Amino acid sequence: MIRSVIRGSGSALPRTAVSNAELAERVDTSDEWIVERTGIRQRYIAEDDETTSSLAVEASRKALEAAGLEAKDIDLIVLATATPDQTFPATATLVQHALGCNGGIAFDVGAVCSGFLYAMASADSMLRTGMAKRALVIGSETFSRILDWEDRTTCVLFGDGAGALVLEAQDVAEGGPGVLASKLHADGAHNELLYVDGGPSTTQTVGKLRMKGREVFRHAVVNLAAVLEETLAEVGLGPDDIDWVVPHQANARILDATARKLGLPVEKVIVTVDRHANTSAASVPLAFDAGVRDGRIKPGDLVMFEAMGGGFTWGASLVRL
Ligand code: UT7
Repeated sequence: MIRSVIRGSGSALPRTAVSNAELAERVDTSDEWIVERTGIRQRYIAEDDETTSSLAVEASRKALEAAGLEAKDIDLIVLATATPDQTFPATATLVQHALGCNGGIAFDVGAVCSGFLYAMASADSMLRTGMAKRALVIGSETFSRILDWEDRTTCVLFGDGAGALVLEAQDVAEGGPGVLASKLHADGAHNELLYVDGGPSTTQTVGKLRMKGREVFRHAVVNLAAVLEETLAEVGLGPDDIDWVVPHQANARILDATARKLGLPVEKVIVTVDRHANTSAASVPLAFDAGVRDGRIKPGDLVMFEAMGGGFTWGASLVRL
C-alpha cells in the first residue's frame, strides 16, 4: 500500500532569544507568572531580516539534508502559516523559488496553530493519490509581528520559528512506516475567543492577535483528548501503543492536562514550550525535530502529532517512523 513516509526533519529559529526577565523590562509581567501559568522561559523573536519565508527555507534545507535529498527531488510544498510574508502570493512559492525546485505544486494552508496538522493531512492525501512523490511540509511563523506588545495577556505567550518535514510516497507493507491516520476538525463558532483584529478585506490592515486565554484553554484540553482518541480508534490502537506525543506547544499545563486525560505518562510528551513558547503552526515540527535530533524519537517509533488553535481548528496524525 502507498503511504507517506517521513524521510527527514529540520527546524530554524531566529538569532535572538528573549527571556521572561528581559520581557518584564518592557511589559508589566514577571518571570514567575509566565513560568507558573505557561511553562515558558524564553522565546525567539525575529529581527527585521528574518521572515516567515527565510525561516522556512532554512528549516527546509535542514530537512532535505536529513533526508539525503536535494531540492529538485521535491514536487510539492505545503506551508502552514498565519503570518505570511505577503497577503499573496503564497509563502510556499517564495520558499520553492529560494530552494530552486520551481514547477511543482506549492501552496499555503491557513489553520493557525493547527496549520501543520492540516498541511500534513493535505500533503499525505496528495501523495497517496499520486499527485506528487515527495513533499516538504512546513510550519513557519513570525507571530511577533502580529502581537500587541501592550497586551500582557497575549504578548508573553508567543514566539517565532519554523519546522519542516520531508514526506515521501512509498509502497510499504502492513506494519511498515508512514502516516497511519489523520483527523481534522473545525468549529467556526468560536472566532471571538482567538482571532486577529484586521485583514485585507475588512480593515486593510494586518491586525493584532486577540485571545480569551482561559476559554481557549478549556476547549483545548477537551478537543485534543477527543481527537487523539478518535485517531487511535481509526487504526485500533490505544494510548499505550504510542511512543511519543508531539503536541502543539501552547502551554505546559495544556500538555499535562491532555496527557493526564488520556492516561499517558508525561515522559512520552515532547516539550519545547519552555524554550520556544507558542510558535503557532511551527511548534509541532519544531518539537518533532528537537526530539529526533536529541535521539529520543527513533525509527520504528509510533508518534502522535496533535494541535488546536484559532477557528477553532484542531487535529491529530498518527505516524509510524
Ligand atoms: O495556540 C492557540 C491556543 N492557545 C492556547 O491554548 C492558550 C490557552 N490559554 C492559556 O494558556 C492560559 O489561559 C493563559 C496562559 C493565556 C492564561 O493563564 P490563566 O491561568 O488562564 O490566567 P488568566 O487569564 O485567568 O489570568 C489570571 C490573572 C489575571 O489577573 P486577575 O484578573 O486575576 O487579577 C490577569 O490579569 O493573571 C493576570 N495576567 C498576568 N499577570 C502577569 C495575565 N497575563 C499576565 C502576565 N503577567 N503576562
